[in-house]
Amino acid sequence: MASPLSPISSFDPKDMEFRYLGPTGLKVSLFSLGGWMTYGKHVTGSPVTECLKAAWDHGINYFDTAETYFNGESEIAMGQSLKELNWPREEFVISTKIFFGTGSKEPNCRGLSRKHLVEGLKQSLTRLQLDYVDIVFAHRMDPNVPMKEIVEGFTQIIRNLNLAYYWGTSEWTAAQIQEATFIADKYNLIAPVVEQPQYNMFSRERFEVEYDPLFTTLSYGTTIWSPLNLGILTGKYNNGIPEDSRFARDSEFFKNTISELQGAEGQAKIEKVKKLMAVAERLETTMPALALAWCAKNRNVSTIILGATKAEQVVENCKALKVIPKLTSSVLAEIEDILLNKPQGGPQIWTQRLVEARR
Ligand SMILES: NC(=O)c1ccc[n+]([C@@H]2O[C@H](COP(=O)([O-])OP(=O)(O)OC[C@H]3O[C@@H](n4cnc5c(N)ncnc54)[C@H](OP(=O)(O)O)[C@@H]3O)[C@@H](O)[C@H]2O)c1
Repeated sequence: MASPLSPISSFDPKDMEFRYLGPTGLKVSLFSLGGWMTYGKHVTGSPVTECLKAAWDHGINYFDTAETYFNGESEIAMGQSLKELNWPREEFVISTKIFFGTGSKEPNCRGLSRKHLVEGLKQSLTRLQLDYVDIVFAHRMDPNVPMKEIVEGFTQIIRNLNLAYYWGTSEWTAAQIQEATFIADKYNLIAPVVEQPQYNMFSRERFEVEYDPLFTTLSYGTTIWSPLNLGILTGKYNNGIPEDSRFARDSEFFKNTISELQGAEGQAKIEKVKKLMAVAERLETTMPALALAWCAKNRNVSTIILGATKAEQVVENCKALKVIPKLTSSVLAEIEDILLNKPQGGPQIWTQRLVEARR
């Protein structure tokens, strides 16, 4: 039976920039939208759809979720909105992540065994009401599963089951990514192509130093998370915790982050945000837009995953596109002088071995 025709296209890229997802031919919008700590619990129903629509209307084609976000409720909420929005499936890119499960205490309902990779993803797809995701991530490394089984599991998902096109890692060490790549090459399996790491003005070390060889030798892609450092880089926490904010809403979950923020280290961060706000003002932009544009200046970033509880935040954050050209080398140096956290890394010893092995 012929497959039904796609709905009519409504996508307009506007001034969005698109980058290749690492070494692949897949193009993702520089900004994307994720559903952690938002969709499915604090934001439900039409406001979820409004956030997704605001993203789409600004040229965003990529959306991210995970099996564990609110134990599957984020996937359900985003899947429902995608259904209502009725975009042609070939026009959007979506990823989910497998590892943490959805709350079951049964030992096979989490981790990276081949069983949970396949069954977990099938459950995710049911919640999303989709036939496939474009990218599936290993949400963390599972040290109890042999690396060969993990790479075989993802290969099976892509090559045999057609449930995804690409696979990636999230918060893996560079050495683990290297090992997975070696195994894929050696056994004619599919290698991961993208990492989902935290990267923002306050979290730089792993991205800028440890992962650097992955960028130079593998062209590894990145879908970076918490680009606003959970909201701290908006300036909204400069004078305490506002009622309608993530830290107030989920104070138990974020209790360590909140106590850190209230201590000397956190207050030093806030002082830096205040100084950065003066730079943003001079550039005639906002603090979130400045922080996001700063991430975008790094060419090793494939896409910046935004988090948003309101459509207006998506709209405001997309204004960062206009700020990117304003970040000249002298402005970046000024920002560096405020942050004072540029990581100093030496060359990674395994880089040459990886280059040799891939020749
Ligand atoms: N792989 C992983 O382990 C991992 C981990 C975390 C996240 N992620 C992914 O990355 C995505 C983004 O992470 P994140 O949500 O932590 O990103 P973030 O950009 O650091 O924080 C987003 C939050 O900041 C606030 N905000 C955003 N824009 C704002 C604005 N213009 N003005 C004021 N407040 C604003 C909103 O929270 P309030 O309005 O509630 O204050 C929003 O939910 C997630 O959705 C998920 O897809 C992945």
